[in-house]
Amino acid sequence: MTYNFPVTRTQHPKPRPEDETKLGFARYFTDHMFVMDYDEGQGWHDGRIVPHEPFLIEPASCVLHYAQMMFEGMKAYRTPDGSVQIFRPDMNIARMARTNERMCIPELPGDLFLAAVKAVIEADADWIPTAPGTALYIRPFIFGDEVSFSVLPAKHYKFMIILSPTGSYYAANDGGITTTRIYVQDNYIRAAKGGTGYAKVGGNYGGGMRASQDAMKYNCKDVLWLDAAEHKYVEEIGTSNAFFRIADEVITAPLDSGTILPGITRNSVIQLLKKWGVKVSERKLSIDEIVEASKNGTLQEIFASGTAAVISPIGWLNYNGKEIEVADTKVGPIAQKLYDTLYGIQTGTVEDFMGWTYPLGITVGK
Ligand code: COI
Repeated sequence: MTYNFPVTRTQHPKPRPEDETKLGFARYFTDHMFVMDYDEGQGWHDGRIVPHEPFLIEPASCVLHYAQMMFEGMKAYRTPDGSVQIFRPDMNIARMARTNERMCIPELPGDLFLAAVKAVIEADADWIPTAPGTALYIRPFIFGDEVSFSVLPAKHYKFMIILSPTGSYYAANDGGITTTRIYVQDNYIRAAKGGTGYAKVGGNYGGGMRASQDAMKYNCKDVLWLDAAEHKYVEEIGTSNAFFRIADEVITAPLDSGTILPGITRNSVIQLLKKWGVKVSERKLSIDEIVEASKNGTLQEIFASGTAAVISPIGWLNYNGKEIEVADTKVGPIAQKLYDTLYGIQTGTVEDFMGWTYPLGITVGK
């Protein structure tokens, strides 16, 4: 289906960030956003591009009380010849469908999602940063805004997309990657079997803030989550998937528990490692096995992966009041190679030998 969204351009374009090497994560937003409504009986309607500005919401809207919402995270990149591309959008579409199903949010057709992403990027393509390590972060989200206190799926929703020129989520904002410190969280949990861990919903993140804040008291950037049932097996790092290299095996938590977010970067890391002939396992890994590996010298690397985090290496774990050094605490070779390859493919400086990039047919000046 072909979609045409009317565009209302802003009369007040914002000043651009002065220094692209100091963007931080989602501190600046572009001039325009996408908005679309859903009404029961009518379906999705009135998609439009409008100036990015605050909007009114009725205080009794159900999302403000019961959090019926979802979001996605993607990035757009400007390649050296000025063309604009995104990365594996089919995976965001598939994940959105699973999240919507879990949250009783009406289906949003994949081609509509993609057309909306393209339209809003087209409106603000000249906001895509090009400094090393930067990208235009894309945040699509849907929320129920029916005025109702019944704990029932809403009859009215909004689908919106906002854009932010962004640097790295965790690491120093200098275009490279550096190691960070992570607190092993064995009190609070992120997700339990049967819950919403696999879905991209705000509640998973809001519920994690207490733990992240506590981690910061220990000079840690975020937490390593353990499983809810036994507080024994590693799951995610902060808002990202987690990878551990012990001897010649790279290990990440399996998806079958339903507690792990199926990250697009996670899947890409697994595929790249397989292609490079590195042994990669999706299996349960206990924190005890990691402690043991650190003692016997086989713990080689730990890194987080995510759209926002890209590849974020971990140099130290704080566990039970003790600090565990990960190898020599420097960025490991696998993490570095993954970062260089992924970010290179995404920005068009490394050949896309996996067929992952999705050109939008938009070109901006160099
Ligand atoms: C992303 O990586 O896109 C995320 O959604 C993580 C975000 C909560 C910072």
